[in-house]
Amino acid sequence: FVAVLDFGAQYGQLIARRVRDLHVYSEIVPCDVSAEELRELAPSALILSGGPASVYAKDAPSIDPAIFDLGLPVLGFCYGHQIMAVTLGGEVSHSDVGEYGPATIERAPKSALFNATPLKQTVWMSHRDAVSRAPEGFIVTSSTAVCPVASMECPARKLYSTQFHPEVRHTEHGQQMLSNFLFDICGLSGDWTMENIVDRKVEEICKKVGEDRVILALSGGVDSSVVAALGARAIGRQMTCVFINHGMLRANEPEQVEEVFTKQFDVDFIHVHAEGRYAALLDGVTDPEQKRRIIGTQFWKEFFAVAQQLEEGGRPVKFLAQGTIYPDIIESGARKTGGKASTIKSHHNLIPFPEGVSFDLIEPLDHFFKDEVRELGLALGLPAHIVYRQPFPGPGLAIRIIGAVSPEKLQILKGADAIVREELDAYNQRLFDQTGERNSEHSCWQYFAVLPDIRSVGVMGDERTYARPVILRAVESSDAMTADWAKLPYDVLARISGRIVDEVPGVNRVAYDITSKPPATIEWE
Ligand code: XMP
Repeated sequence: FVAVLDFGAQYGQLIARRVRDLHVYSEIVPCDVSAEELRELAPSALILSGGPASVYAKDAPSIDPAIFDLGLPVLGFCYGHQIMAVTLGGEVSHSDVGEYGPATIERAPKSALFNATPLKQTVWMSHRDAVSRAPEGFIVTSSTAVCPVASMECPARKLYSTQFHPEVRHTEHGQQMLSNFLFDICGLSGDWTMENIVDRKVEEICKKVGEDRVILALSGGVDSSVVAALGARAIGRQMTCVFINHGMLRANEPEQVEEVFTKQFDVDFIHVHAEGRYAALLDGVTDPEQKRRIIGTQFWKEFFAVAQQLEEGGRPVKFLAQGTIYPDIIESGARKTGGKASTIKSHHNLIPFPEGVSFDLIEPLDHFFKDEVRELGLALGLPAHIVYRQPFPGPGLAIRIIGAVSPEKLQILKGADAIVREELDAYNQRLFDQTGERNSEHSCWQYFAVLPDIRSVGVMGDERTYARPVILRAVESSDAMTADWAKLPYDVLARISGRIVDEVPGVNRVAYDITSKPPATIEWE
């Protein structure tokens, strides 16, 4: 695999993504890894990422110089370029003029890294310091007006570096350079394809599980569904998928999940009908945090009750499968500290195991990015409505009903939410047809209805009504950390509003939430 040494840039993840796009497996490793540790990890090549620091700053991250003696091909970008230069005896100087954005380089005619790219080309720069003298044995392979060493290389030792960022799209031929490095210089083969991955993962799961039983909390979300589909392929009915229906799922959702995991995939599927127990526990509860606590605590009670029944029925559970994905574990140190010890602990902490209960963990997605998980889901044959499902909170509709949850409110919200999803699924599909991108600019990332705890006056026919408003929430986002309200076309808004008041009894008004996050959050509770 290719190890990306992460010097704290926002570019680290992006580099790993670009390498994987070329079907070569890549992982992020913290930059303070020692040569010895790296030898044990046994990568085939290294990429040094950019980073926010100046190599001369007081706490600037450094690199174990012995890493350059491991005989591995190395490619450095930006900070990685500068750290390679200073570590190997070159020089980096401060400069008053930085270079930010597109720049034009002229490259040397002979350089394996630049093969099949033009002599003059546009690259993306973002730096103030610059390499002023390349180390001995290196040749300078490109420069710009303000950057004398825009790239350098020592082909005999397979060391290459660029001041610019080949991993960003604005570097016109960046992907070609990466491809030159991986295939021509390192001699790797691009065999990390979804079909191969499925085979490898299936093999891994079989080997680890043996004859034992695995249990999975299947929510119907993307990650747990992909784990279930993988498990079905690997161990079939040795895997028990527990679907806990708390009654606050969206319209048709429980039926769809049950259909997929009983008809299409051969797993031991248990549908726990806990609707009544949840309704009783939540009766009259208005505080959002208390609702969350009740729902979360009851969830694990229901789950462990199933595990216990299996045990009593002579089918003891050895493994707990989880849909942990790569961004969950990337926090630095994860790989170095002997696997993912630190992260596993925090996951365990989230799950309130009853006294004396413990499981071994299986986390088959722990090195996949979200869109790779979706690709894996498609390769396994999961339907698009699961693979492209929008995020949905664990506590479900309970935190979209402001105030106490009741059957009447649930019915209204499910009806309104179904219309919102139907209309905005179609809107997203139209954008997808136009742009070919799933989460293109202006497509909605998450969209749903919220039911506030108020009523307002309206008029229907000749009658005065005193009924409920519904709030439409639709946001554009990529990671839920920040979000903007979606600038939906008026005709789409009009259709949603018209359909909700026409089709959902008890609703006489629709409002649109036009607040971004921050200062609001995506959900209302
Ligand atoms: P907020 O409302 O904090 O939501 O902007 C950010 C993202 O997280 C989802 N969310 C949850 N997901 N359990 C979950 O699994 C929860 O309790 C929860 N609360 C919010 C929300 O839907 C959005 O995508």
